[in-house]
Amino acid sequence: MAPAIYQQKGYPPIPEIRRVGVIGAGQMGGGIAQVAAVHGFEVRLYDIASEQVARALEQIDGRLARQVAKGTLSPADKEAALARIRRVEDYAGFADCELVIEAATENEEIKRKIFKDLVPHLRADALVATNTSSISVTRLAAVTDRPERFIGMHFMNPVPVMKLVELIRGIATEEDTYQAAKKFCERLGKTTVTAEDFPAFIVNRILLPMINEACYTLYEGVGTVESIDTAMKLGANHPMGPLELADFIGLDTCLAIMQVLHDGLADTKYRPCPLLVKYVEAGWLGRKVKRGFYDYRGERPVPTR
Ligand code: CAA
Repeated sequence: MAPAIYQQKGYPPIPEIRRVGVIGAGQMGGGIAQVAAVHGFEVRLYDIASEQVARALEQIDGRLARQVAKGTLSPADKEAALARIRRVEDYAGFADCELVIEAATENEEIKRKIFKDLVPHLRADALVATNTSSISVTRLAAVTDRPERFIGMHFMNPVPVMKLVELIRGIATEEDTYQAAKKFCERLGKTTVTAEDFPAFIVNRILLPMINEACYTLYEGVGTVESIDTAMKLGANHPMGPLELADFIGLDTCLAIMQVLHDGLADTKYRPCPLLVKYVEAGWLGRKVKRGFYDYRGERPVPTR
């Protein structure tokens, strides 16, 4: 029997997830689409910029081709995975999905508008997830017609490689929604951790202040870009230095997360480094535009300071 709250809200039972909608075909959305398709889910991929979907599909093709070359994926499985990803032109394309994951820009206004426009097109029993890396899941859920069926599902970059997904319950998220989301992530081969709905959750609450501090370390002239990254790679065994990692995440995303921490926790220890702000103002957003703390336009990345 469905829990009382579902009966009250008239929710039908949670269906088995087979078709997954992904909103946003950037590095996160593209990665989520790839992993879901490889694990047998039908994927519907949408981006407001349709050329971004084409680019994401090309990148997925390239990454799967590498796996085939290495012998970790058969050519037939690659083709089957690609065939499972369908580009959709609008939210009506998600009408048959049991789960839709939003992976758009880390901007609350943009995400709120997406959810408002999305939900009228969904099945009554569909779950909705946000890949937000810092914004309140409770606030985003409140925009929808189904806050009990809404959850934070925060993947790490690069999605195909990183083993973790943070699950964040909003205040209204039902236990059945959480369990269905957990099972879905496990079917993708991921390990989940549960984080409470506080600014930036667990990973970014810890990681982003470290990156911001690396920016201050550069800003105050304590070290150069190369010395800061080398220090943390060789001195703390991090796979990437913090500035290289900032470029990888995107400096705009890093700044947005620091602003969420600063505004949400009202503690000056989270103030974004002015140098990070300046890089974002310059449009030097990291790897995706080929310039950030490093310049990626040549053969090898060259520090920009
Ligand atoms: N997309 C998909 N796969 C990728 C990839 C990408 N962008 N970059 C590398 N890979 C894969 C490679 O194909 C390779 O796979 P195989 O082992 O199957 O061949 C594997 O990753 C290792 O790659 P490389 O040998 O080329 O390079 P590497 O050993 O330097 O590893 C890395 C690359 C995995 C990205 C590693 O540098 C790393 O772990 N960096 C830290 C990443 C990290 O901290 N991510 C979290 C960011 S925070 C976040 O995501 C939260 C947020 O909200 C901001």
